[in-house]
Amino acid sequence: ASAAESSGGATATRRVLMFPLPFQGHLNPMLQLADVLHARGLRVTIFHAAFNAPDPERYPAGYRFVPVGAGVPTADLVPTGSNADFAGAVLRINERLQAPFQDSLRAVLEEDEEGAAVCLVLDSNLRGMQVVADRLGVPTLVLRTAGAACLVAFMAFPALCDKGLLPPQDHSQLNMPLDDLQPLRVRDMVFSTTSPHETISTCLECIVESVRCSSGVIFSTFCDLEDVELQKVNDSVGVPVYAIGPLHKISSGPQSSLLAPDRTCLDWLDKQEDESVLFVSFGSLASMDKEELMETALGLANSRIPFLWVIRHDLLHGSEKVGLPDGFEEAVQGTGMVVSWAPQQEVLGHQAVGGFWTHNGWNSTLESISEGVPMLCRPHFADQMINARYVQEVWKIGFELEGKLERGEIERNVRNLLCQEVGGEMRRRAKDLKDKATRCIKKGGSSQTRVDLLVNFITSLPS
Ligand code: UDX
Repeated sequence: ASAAESSGGATATRRVLMFPLPFQGHLNPMLQLADVLHARGLRVTIFHAAFNAPDPERYPAGYRFVPVGAGVPTADLVPTGSNADFAGAVLRINERLQAPFQDSLRAVLEEDEEGAAVCLVLDSNLRGMQVVADRLGVPTLVLRTAGAACLVAFMAFPALCDKGLLPPQDHSQLNMPLDDLQPLRVRDMVFSTTSPHETISTCLECIVESVRCSSGVIFSTFCDLEDVELQKVNDSVGVPVYAIGPLHKISSGPQSSLLAPDRTCLDWLDKQEDESVLFVSFGSLASMDKEELMETALGLANSRIPFLWVIRHDLLHGSEKVGLPDGFEEAVQGTGMVVSWAPQQEVLGHQAVGGFWTHNGWNSTLESISEGVPMLCRPHFADQMINARYVQEVWKIGFELEGKLERGEIERNVRNLLCQEVGGEMRRRAKDLKDKATRCIKKGGSSQTRVDLLVNFITSLPS
């Protein structure tokens, strides 16, 4: 029974409050979760930063959007470029939006027109907002937008610092295996080389604290993918754990893309042979320098593999204009396409796509797994190294492109993924995982069952 049915219709007047972190990779899963809850009869109020805001026009009745902190300076809240300080930006967002959020939350609670607000679901990076909710007596649930393995690793971070492994003191430490976190190495735990260590420590501490201080933690992952890691989380956080992913496959809601996707690439894909195309995309924040861009372009062109490459307007460090090598466009005419933003989930689901060169953001990783597409991994920061390691060592559905980006290595790796037996084996395993993902979101599947539990929990909260 839907939540509305099981509670005699009472949920029609219940509201869930939500607060995503204002970045694409965080907005997507939160708005997918909003859709899942909305489809179960709950109303949804989305608090959001005034920058990188979702578009309310795309959402049906039952949604309300409340901008927070209009007018606060935002220039240092968006981490881009070669010195991108993601952890610092997260801490500043907390600092700057906390007081405005308190005012907004109080106002929303006082209105109470659209039904009682029963809880706040917030991004685990928003510990500052959780403190506000606690103060005003609103229970919180936390959405982790990365995998369970990542939370296990973040929980172990302070102990690794105490042991002197983080930050690494010299190069020789980087490949040291971490026995309690197999298959991770020290290098996979280097969250960022551009944020100060203290800032990273505080940021990760706040994430873990937000989970422990919540009434439950929600993951866009699934039991068959991260069984062991989910069990570890379960054993140590002391709150219920809801693994309800892949969220983008459970939700059917509107797209929460901040940039307009170029849909002409789908027509281009229609003309390509099955499983022949490499999709190349590095998410919403990762960037590269001019030389890396050149090597990438030449490696792709020389591989003679058809490719669809997303070159975001801010892919290059700083504000440099993207310049491709002379003769590149002529060389790849017909075999390659460049867009500034793609409808990624549809691209990965297209039969022409046979491989994904990715930075391994969690959304991208999960979207690739959900479509059975093997990966060439080039992680940049945060959880991406952890995800890449799992892709290569645990699920064996891809491999990492290590070291300096160099055209010959790129060409060789791209060909391995798309044309060699090693890539074919990875594709078979990826398809197997796709089948498991498909099963778990069906009625009675592990994720669908946990959505029921989550909705029951929310609807049983006192209003
Ligand atoms: C990353 C990490 O994943 C996240 O954990 C970290 O906290 C911040 O950085 P991001 O770079 O946005 O986030 O990557 P990812 O998690 O893969 O999310 C990107 C999203 O944008 C995906 O849902 C993807 O489908 C979408 N996208 C990307 C498009 O819709 N079109 C594109 O062309 C590229």
